[in-house]
Amino acid sequence: MSDKSRSAEQSGSSEAQIAVHWKEEKYFKPPQSFIEQANLSDPDVRERFGERNFPDCFREYADLLDWSKPYTEVLDTGKPPFWKWFADGELNACHNCVDRHLGKYRNKAALIFVSEPEDDAPVAMTYQELYVRVNEMAALLRDYCGLKAGDRVTLHLPMTLDLPITMLACARLGVVHSQVFGGFSGQSCGQRIEDSGSRYLITADAYWRSGKLIDHKEKADIAVKTAEEAGQKVDKVLIWQRYPGKNSSPTAMVEGRDVIINDLLKDYAGQRVEPVAMNAEAPLFLMYSSGTTGKPKGCQHRTGGYLAYVAGTSKYIEDIHPEDTYWCMADIGWITGHSYIVYGPLALAATSVIYEGTPTFPDARRPWRIAERLGVNIFHTSPTAVRALRRLDPEGPAQSPQQFKHMTTVGEPIEPEAWRWYYHQIGKDQAVIVDTWWQTETGGFLCSTIPALDDMKPGSAGPALPGIYPVIFDENGAEVARGSGRAGNICIRNPWPGIMQTIWGDDQRFVDTYYKRYCRNTDSTDWRDWPYMAGDGAMQAEDGYYRILGRVDDVINVSGHRLGTKEIESACLTVADVAEAAVVPVVDEIKGRVPDVYVSLGSDAGDLEDIKSRIIKACDDMIGKIARPRQIHIVPDMPKTRSGKIMRRVLAAISNGADTGDVTTLANPDVVEEIQNMVQGENASKSSADMPDDIRNFGNND
Ligand code: WTA
Repeated sequence: MSDKSRSAEQSGSSEAQIAVHWKEEKYFKPPQSFIEQANLSDPDVRERFGERNFPDCFREYADLLDWSKPYTEVLDTGKPPFWKWFADGELNACHNCVDRHLGKYRNKAALIFVSEPEDDAPVAMTYQELYVRVNEMAALLRDYCGLKAGDRVTLHLPMTLDLPITMLACARLGVVHSQVFGGFSGQSCGQRIEDSGSRYLITADAYWRSGKLIDHKEKADIAVKTAEEAGQKVDKVLIWQRYPGKNSSPTAMVEGRDVIINDLLKDYAGQRVEPVAMNAEAPLFLMYSSGTTGKPKGCQHRTGGYLAYVAGTSKYIEDIHPEDTYWCMADIGWITGHSYIVYGPLALAATSVIYEGTPTFPDARRPWRIAERLGVNIFHTSPTAVRALRRLDPEGPAQSPQQFKHMTTVGEPIEPEAWRWYYHQIGKDQAVIVDTWWQTETGGFLCSTIPALDDMKPGSAGPALPGIYPVIFDENGAEVARGSGRAGNICIRNPWPGIMQTIWGDDQRFVDTYYKRYCRNTDSTDWRDWPYMAGDGAMQAEDGYYRILGRVDDVINVSGHRLGTKEIESACLTVADVAEAAVVPVVDEIKGRVPDVYVSLGSDAGDLEDIKSRIIKACDDMIGKIARPRQIHIVPDMPKTRSGKIMRRVLAAISNGADTGDVTTLANPDVVEEIQNMVQGENASKSSADMPDDIRNFGNND
């Protein structure tokens, strides 16, 4: 057992408190050409958004919006941690993203859709056309479905223009949209329909992915069945056709339940719907995310604070101007797409690109052809995409015609080597990079460099954003000295407008998950007593830059997508013959982390290969293909403590070829060696010195 793990165990501590092996990287300066045109180059911003001016500093973001009724109070802390932002103000998110731009930008492209088949020309949709489509869809939702402000509706849509049109149509009416990532299975979608209490499911017949026209409609049938079994009746399934007038799905329509949106819309041609003035605190949308338990959390985001925060950060950190062509390659089904494809950019009258397919289809130079054709100058993607593009075509981007002024990375830590490749090859040393750290819960960015003001440091997200005051706590709640380079749990000391309101229908879980651990006084209405716990390990270097080390809970980050290990375990346990299941993260060169599954079987289990394929199918069906295990290990027994708890930490070490530490106190130490031989073979017991912290500490909370 290494000294480090021994001392961590002796102090009863866990998570990322152990010192990190980390080398300081050299800085890169933002190019002068960028600084000259930047939205934010005034160094006073940090003072303006300093604690002395909190919370009024956030008026600056709120003032980027049109309010139908002005707010008077910025922050109401009356019922912590249920903060209220701009609470007596009223506004409409759709008006702010569409209508108000018509004066100046009526015929400027709001969205440009790029379909995966490369022979199809891109489709530019002007603000005027977006306005028309959104109004017609809003009329349909209101008059055909009878939806009104406060109702929830589940969307399970792929990456086409129909998705932002539907979201904005909901927002126009104050209907709360809950978009489920298109790649999630029908069952996941059904679970979210039930949790949100949606009576309508809005889906699509098909979409292109990696050269195939995928049948998406089939998932709707499973979703409806799952929701109904859980007690939520779905009245209608509304279907957008990938090719209007043509049915692209082989799955049969269900009489009386399924309707084609493109047909229905003809009845609403030319209709206009007044945007409904919503209270700033009215929920705008739900975005489900994985957490520690098997049940996904419906992160509920408010209208006013959220929109103000994503508009402000899109302007200052993404540096979006109306003249820019901005392309974020994420999926709108994740928070990144909501905040930084749809709401933030459109609030600023930007031109935002929506690409349907895989970045590497038909080859790894597709993104650069798209960027050149559309004149994209701001590019936004994940470390996984950067790593995949690098592996496929390391020299390609430098020889390709893209020319960016600004590039973003989001969703996972990016290793300095991949960062430098992104900078030199894709950015050609001309683009500023922001490494943005944030979460579904936080609505928008928390840490990043300000692109024209701060030097970039590969591998570090950067300082906190204006108006965000982080703190790192150790296990015992003591503050880790600032700039000390010691790791701990990163928290945000203050509320900010983008923070979620609650977990849909579960206030207690909201408090318990994010605030319980470090709350100093539950009776206090002073925000200073309520730090928000992000669930990530982090350290702050001397220069004030934060380096994010990864999750400290049971969440694993696969290609920047959050998956709950407990959700995967539940899927495995639905397979007959599986008695116990444990899921652990494994380091993957491209995807960051991937799940490995360990199962033990009941007596009389059948054919092992058959069981493995049923486990894979269960993960595909219950969650989606992104949750597919890398490997499934069928073990004679799980390593357990004397009290019978599965030691996931030991399994994580084995899967990653690392030292398992001292296992003599386990109830069944022999099984560890047996599993180790099975999984690691001859290479057993490498040192754990260079293990990433999230893996080294995985399962310590069990
Ligand atoms: C991780 C995605 C390092 C982190 C916006 C966080 C990051 C989780 C970064 C949230 C980054 C996100 N550097 N890690 N720049 N950005 N993460 O909710 O672990 O899908 O807690 O939101 O991704 O994932 P989520």
